[in-house]
Amino acid sequence: GKTHRHNFVVKSSSYTRLCSTKDILTVNGQFPGPSLKAHRGDKMIIKVYNKANYNITFHWHGVKQPRNPWSDGPEYITQCPIRPGNKYTYKIEFTTEEGTMWWHAHSGWARATVHGAILVYPKPGSHYPFSKPYAEVPIILGEWWKKNVMEIPRNANITGGEPILSDAYTINGKPGHLYPCSKSGIFEMTVEHGKTYLLRIISAVMDEELFFGIANHKMILVGRDGSYTKQIETSYIMIAPGQSMDVLLQANKSPSFYFMAARAYSSAIGAGFDKTMTTAIIKYQASYHEPPEFPHYKFPHLPPYDRTQASTDFTKRIRSLATKDHPTNVPLHVNTHLFFTISVNLLNCSNKPCTGPFGKRFAASVNNISFVAPSIDILRAYYHKIPGVFEKDFPKKPPKEFNYTGEDLPENLLTPSYCTKVVVLEYNASVELVLQGTNVLASDNHPVHLHGYNFYVVGWGFGNFNPKKDPLNYNLVDPPEENTVGVHKNGWVAIRFRADNPGVWLMHCHIERHQTWGMTVVFLVKNGNSPQNKILPPPHDLPTC
Ligand code: C2O
Ligand code: CU
Repeated sequence: GKTHRHNFVVKSSSYTRLCSTKDILTVNGQFPGPSLKAHRGDKMIIKVYNKANYNITFHWHGVKQPRNPWSDGPEYITQCPIRPGNKYTYKIEFTTEEGTMWWHAHSGWARATVHGAILVYPKPGSHYPFSKPYAEVPIILGEWWKKNVMEIPRNANITGGEPILSDAYTINGKPGHLYPCSKSGIFEMTVEHGKTYLLRIISAVMDEELFFGIANHKMILVGRDGSYTKQIETSYIMIAPGQSMDVLLQANKSPSFYFMAARAYSSAIGAGFDKTMTTAIIKYQASYHEPPEFPHYKFPHLPPYDRTQASTDFTKRIRSLATKDHPTNVPLHVNTHLFFTISVNLLNCSNKPCTGPFGKRFAASVNNISFVAPSIDILRAYYHKIPGVFEKDFPKKPPKEFNYTGEDLPENLLTPSYCTKVVVLEYNASVELVLQGTNVLASDNHPVHLHGYNFYVVGWGFGNFNPKKDPLNYNLVDPPEENTVGVHKNGWVAIRFRADNPGVWLMHCHIERHQTWGMTVVFLVKNGNSPQNKILPPPHDLPTC
């Protein structure tokens, strides 16, 4: 394969949205940032120069980084942040992933504006498992805040309450015509009649899952999280923060103007969320005398905000391709069983301030543990055997059993503890992890993302996981392969993967406030015996804390 080289200069640049201008963090002045393109088997070397006033790190979301956690990016997990004025070089290798992934900052809330697409094409000489599209277009779903996003986590930590919501959703950085002062701030995609386009859709959103659709056009889903799927025809998709979806769009409708649009899907009853809609334009190439007024464009029909049925109707159809060229490698036998509850909690305050709901503060937890980032990265501590940074006894199941999804569970049922514990996995362990949503506090869906791996979603359901019955219905033939899986409000998901990538790998909810509150787990996957199964040595320019 080839080696591609890029420079990422992190700096603040001024952008105008929703009637006002402000400085945001960008890469090379671009928002969204540059798209990275490679073929499977290629490598990339990315030199990051931090010319901003904030710490920064970069994560290549969906890229497995075999044996090289040093380039994975989450701050205080695999590296210390790159401080203002400093630089660091990331090395990326595209091995088995193919399709759409993305990159984003992994420091504080910087990823709100510091993100971009990663497109990985088939190896030269091989082909897509569908006919070659005429053109490919990244569609990045995001958000815009009028306030400085970098201050959100600190403010939320001070009050203990909900972080502020965004002021608009965006498509490729633009809110669209339904927001104030945004009539010209709308993304336009020109299509030729009769051609097929590959939309590489990424959710860089911080807050909510979204429904997305295109007026009068069906979409055909062909890929998900950097792996191919069986083709699914659909009029809308449900995409959660962190996920990516490849869809084919056939431009075969009468030449005109059509809106594509996205708005929230939220099951968090009672919790506030932004109910606005972002729009972009599909414009058939033709000779118009004058473009019609916006009201004459066609609008997509999106399901209502709270329509869980619409969300599951779409998600349950997704299957991996499972062909000779794109096989599934789902572990059929499991030797390591993990069961993790994921909850949002309310805590009484002792040493932290408490001006959140009911005079308490929010926390979020996995198996009742709310993750606390250490002051030097866990990977370095592990590699150099520095004691006192983390503990190795993250529990393999919750401290006590209860009716996880019962009605009106008392808030004090589980009071999480704050600590820094990791899950230790043997090299090559064949792992099944059941993620159990709970109803400890008004529950929400959680898109759970694992670094360093793709996993197979072998089963899911509502209510409490039943270890006797539910495994009988697992799909071990063509389960979807993903890196970010939605765990339903009051439901469970079972995933499987083989722990064949030694290193320190983060798993967390990709809804940013939940991650900020501690919905995070760290896996430590041990080295194998042969030299090809061990973590690579650290690079010489690794930032220090
Ligand atoms: Cu896309 Cu840990 O993140
Ligand atoms: Cu969550």
